[in-house]
Amino acid sequence: MIRVAAVADIHLGEGMQGAWADDVTGLDSDLLLLAGDLTRHGTRAEARVVAGEFAHAPVPVVAVLGNHDLHGDDVEGVTAELISAGITVLEGTGAVFDVSGARLGVAGTIGFGGGFPPATASGFGEPEMKAFDARNRSLAHGLCTALSSLDCDVAVALTHYAPIPGTLAGEPPQIHAFLGSHLLGRAIDDCDREDVPVALAVHGHAHAGAPDGRTPGGVPVHNVAQPLLDGAFRTFVLGR
Ligand SMILES: [Fe+2]
Ligand SMILES: [Fe+2]
Repeated sequence: MIRVAAVADIHLGEGMQGAWADDVTGLDSDLLLLAGDLTRHGTRAEARVVAGEFAHAPVPVVAVLGNHDLHGDDVEGVTAELISAGITVLEGTGAVFDVSGARLGVAGTIGFGGGFPPATASGFGEPEMKAFDARNRSLAHGLCTALSSLDCDVAVALTHYAPIPGTLAGEPPQIHAFLGSHLLGRAIDDCDREDVPVALAVHGHAHAGAPDGRTPGGVPVHNVAQPLLDGAFRTFVLGR
């Protein structure tokens, strides 16, 4: 059995050193997933605080960024700080870890909005709408490609934006199009993994959403936004 801990939306800011270090060093899992929105405004100084909190994790830490982490227009700097703490940062990429005698693969992207049928954004009209749609499609395609490329026994999808509407229940329907995209769910279901289907999908971003759902193809999806959790992390047990 593999134990995977996860959390999103911890939104650390300057002066918050020590808020997570004890929970991190006490982790009882094989791997920790961070599903984005690790900072408040996406500054390098805030990312340095995140790095300090997770640098002494006893297990591998894998992250995707969230929209807050992009707000400061310094993805490179934020990412560099996280990497300096030993955190693996994914964007349209994957990584495989040897844990509990198995190869655990994680593929990730921040993802994007766009909504869910019957109310999905289209790439029609203004250049801005075309750009919105293009980003959505590009990141979903990156997730699909990364999932398909994982050579592992157990595959996990990690996103910030939601891949299904089910884990948005509780959020106003009017903003669902800004909280996730059906293309992420399709990427999880349709990636070429007949040998090892995706065992788990984890996301954040929807602070007032619901914890559990499934893709149309049946993959379990969990919203691990911190305000929805009882403790610091939520832990999932996966079989080989
Ligand atoms: Fe958030
Ligand atoms: Fe977010």
